[in-house]
Amino acid sequence: MSDGLDDVVAAHTVLSEVDGAAGRLVIRGHSLAELAGRASFEEMAALMFDGLLPGLPQRRDLTAALGQARADLFGIVERTALSDDLGPVEAIRAWTAQIADGEGPDTALKLLAAPAVFTAAAVRKRRGLAPIAPDPALSQAVDTLRMLRGETPTAAQAAALDTYLVTVADHGLNASTFAARVVASTRAGLVSAVLAGISALKGPLHGGAPGPVIEMLDAIGEPANARAWLEEALGRGERLMGFGHRIYRVRDPRADALKQAIAKLGADAGRLRHAEAVEQAALAILRERKPGRSLETNVEFYTALLLEALGFPPEAFTCVFALGRTTGWLAHAREQIETGRLIRPQSVYVGPQPRQAA
Ligand code: CMC
Repeated sequence: MSDGLDDVVAAHTVLSEVDGAAGRLVIRGHSLAELAGRASFEEMAALMFDGLLPGLPQRRDLTAALGQARADLFGIVERTALSDDLGPVEAIRAWTAQIADGEGPDTALKLLAAPAVFTAAAVRKRRGLAPIAPDPALSQAVDTLRMLRGETPTAAQAAALDTYLVTVADHGLNASTFAARVVASTRAGLVSAVLAGISALKGPLHGGAPGPVIEMLDAIGEPANARAWLEEALGRGERLMGFGHRIYRVRDPRADALKQAIAKLGADAGRLRHAEAVEQAALAILRERKPGRSLETNVEFYTALLLEALGFPPEAFTCVFALGRTTGWLAHAREQIETGRLIRPQSVYVGPQPRQAA
């Protein structure tokens, strides 16, 4: 038995490979460096789905088809009232659950479009603002930012969001992708698989980490406070958000892809310098406290800075992660349906046996 399934291989996949020793991510035969900053969300989705979902529009037509899917989904926001105290992740999960389940290209298209519409609407509703209807003529990245902020983003902002969405599109058999594959293996449908993915993603050990990264940066305030603050957090038994990884024993290559995107965006230089100082302090302390464990910066640290610079509030960061990762969840779910069997591992019972009848 392996606690946490570290050494268990649960799927053969043509989708992505994570080399934790070399710090290398390959997606469908391309290195992350070839894709991040070059491909759009739509191009990445077409690459991921190639051959897995016949009937899904290819590259050129996918932008228009996704735009139409976003427009169609806005009705769900308009007619489904949600409680005001739901957080953005709970809101996108509740609205996504309104999509009819299935395994075909139409369902996949709606699910790809859904987090864009639902994230922007959830954020605006929490701010007491009316949701903005999608513009089907725009790309997913441009429309997401427009629906969030009410103004057309600059080309640099849209490119930064595309870079983020491509960077997090797929990452081997991470917890949320595994959850999506388990549900798909029961033939429950793609909506159910994506809902499982969102639910697994929201935890702070997985995609819920970047919001707390912002809290940490703000609480530290000045770089000079970093060491004492971080030491205290570790002393309380807390983990430092944005550091460590189950697979990587070196720096997560996605961290650098996102750091480059922040630099290109020309975001607040002071904020970036503060974050770099906190990062260096955290790495030094983790090396002292956990020698030999190789706890390095992971994707979530610079995710927090990039999404903050684009105007997303911290409580919605996980929704934006879901927007990128839905591509991976859907591709893995389809791969599981086509090539896999029901996923049903075993457990070893260690509880008491019934008492023998006298
Ligand atoms: N801060 C402090 N200590 C840590 C951290 C951290 N960020 N990460 C691991 N450790 C310690 C952990 O306490 C344990 O110490 P000990 O052996 O003394 O008990 C040791 O390192 C090994 O930890 P582990 O639990 O075996 O590591 P794991 O592979 O189960 O956990 C992780 C991986 C990502 C959950 C963990 O590193 C963590 O909690 N990081 C902080 C949360 C975070 O940034 N999550 C985002 C992950 S990247 C996005 C994604 O792909 O999901």
